[in-house]
Amino acid sequence: MPPFFLLLLFASSLIHGHAQSLPETQGFISMLITQNGLDFVKDLLVRKAISSIVSLHLPNIEKGTKIPFLGNVYLMLSDITIYQIDVASSVVKPGESGISIVASGVSCNLSMNWYYDYSTWIGPVKVSDQGLAHVQVEGMEVELSLGLENQEGSLDLKLKNCDSSVKDISIKLDGGASWLYQGVIDAFEGNIGSAVENAITKKLGKGISKLDSYLKSLPKEVPVDDHSSLNVTIINDVLLSESSVGFETNGLFIQRNDSVHIPNLLHKNSKLPILCTNSSKMLAITLDEAVFNSASALYYDAKFMHWIVDQIPDQSLLNTAGWRFIIPQLYKKYPNHRMNLNISLSSPPVVEISNQKAGVHVFADLTIDVLEENEVIPVACISLMIQASGLVKINGNNLVGTIRLDDFGMSLKWSNIGNLRMFLIQPAMWTIIETVFLPYANSHLSKGLPLPIIHGFTLQDAEIILSTSKVGVCSDVSFAESNKHFLQFIM
Ligand SMILES: *[C@@H]1O[C@H](CO)[C@@H](O)[C@H](O)[C@H]1NC(C)=O
Ligand SMILES: *[C@@H]1O[C@H](CO)[C@@H](O)[C@H](O)[C@H]1NC(C)=O
Ligand SMILES: *[C@@H]1O[C@H](CO)[C@@H](O)[C@H](O)[C@H]1NC(C)=O
Ligand SMILES: *[C@@H]1O[C@H](CO)[C@@H](O)[C@H](O)[C@H]1NC(C)=O
Ligand SMILES: *[C@@H]1O[C@H](CO)[C@@H](O)[C@H](O)[C@H]1NC(C)=O
Repeated sequence: MPPFFLLLLFASSLIHGHAQSLPETQGFISMLITQNGLDFVKDLLVRKAISSIVSLHLPNIEKGTKIPFLGNVYLMLSDITIYQIDVASSVVKPGESGISIVASGVSCNLSMNWYYDYSTWIGPVKVSDQGLAHVQVEGMEVELSLGLENQEGSLDLKLKNCDSSVKDISIKLDGGASWLYQGVIDAFEGNIGSAVENAITKKLGKGISKLDSYLKSLPKEVPVDDHSSLNVTIINDVLLSESSVGFETNGLFIQRNDSVHIPNLLHKNSKLPILCTNSSKMLAITLDEAVFNSASALYYDAKFMHWIVDQIPDQSLLNTAGWRFIIPQLYKKYPNHRMNLNISLSSPPVVEISNQKAGVHVFADLTIDVLEENEVIPVACISLMIQASGLVKINGNNLVGTIRLDDFGMSLKWSNIGNLRMFLIQPAMWTIIETVFLPYANSHLSKGLPLPIIHGFTLQDAEIILSTSKVGVCSDVSFAESNKHFLQFIM
């Protein structure tokens, strides 16, 4: 019956903007696990706890006891094994001081061997016997109190208390003398009860500490591609309310294994959580637009936003002949020359999210190069301001997107071939943006951003909600039992 929060993971953030001595660090990806999400994980963990308790061996119990007419009898129960356990109901409740899980109506069946011996009154003759016994333990309640905190960027899960209490025990012996039955009950009832309580609390304690190690072993970076990772370091306090558990992670892109400077992202301190329209979803993940802007800055710095276009669907645009009527002086100076287009973003694309749309502003310079023998001759450069809007979706556990052109503007930056008539060039630019730039951007966006979800869990029926400067993902999760990766770590 251990913990749930596993779903969450990590991400982190570092930018404090120009932190005006704000003590709190801003988290750019946050996660909220709702009561339904906690129930889901609790059920998973209760099932796991049950299967780990079945076939649990308890230590032998032995005892000397006085039986009327027989005198001192030595009794021993050995090979005590829990072979079945049922949990009638279980509840998980987050609260300010932690998370409590109560399992009630727990019953279990044990099998064991009994053995006794005693000396007779007459002479040194020893009498002994042995057989099997079945014990049913009923109406047990198990209660765990867990603490969950941020410890240096990882989740720290502590078992603060574990109580279990047995209400009723019934013992059935196979064979044995009639005095034995009452004798065993009198002598061992309490011991069996507390042996079961001890074994279960010990097992759960171990399970919790394994789960804690698992949480601490989760990497603080989630790889996105060869060049970048998402920093999923947990920041600030874990937010425990009466019906949810929340975390914040840094959430910004960082260069793989080479800590790169991330430019300061000015941050509007809007801390309002995303409101899911469907409150029964298990999980809400909120990503600040700063996450996307950190990716944009990182790829820009890594010089990924510069490329030479020498293949396009309309190949006529890569020969001066195709520009004959658009830029006559180009054709005149370089008749029937092949061309390249050198597209280079002049600043990182800026992502802006409102409750209407996810938008991106791109500033690019498009240099027209003429190819002459082995020479590349730049002839003119046009600055483009592209406004696109995105459709955000979930694919597996990735946030993916596609963008389409909303608007664009252009101006001549420089020219070696005299003035250009921009209104004539505009349709050609539109074609280039639609057939070269957008497909290129979309092929990257379709790979998407992996959301920090623990291995084995998959988002299900996710819904995307846009709000001012944030993207919210409200989702259920499913768990692949066949994917043992997660559960093998606990218990
Ligand atoms: C990741 O985020 C944490 C917390 O904000 C920060 O301390 C750490 O420096 C970040 N890591 C990198 C590589 O930027
Ligand atoms: C285990 O105990 C339950 C009662 O708690 C009883 O109904 C059930 O038959 C027992 N199962 C076995 C296999 O003995
Ligand atoms: C980064 O990691 C890759 C693969 O793990 C490795 O090949 C490369 O050498 C590392 N670079 C640095 C600077 O550590
Ligand atoms: C809300 O989500 C739950 C669980 O995903 C689903 O069963 C239910 O149909 C949804 N309700 C609405 C109104 O979409
Ligand atoms: C492409 O254009 C940029 C300026 O817009 C320039 O810095 C870069 O050198 C050009 N690249 C090539 C290969 O010509």
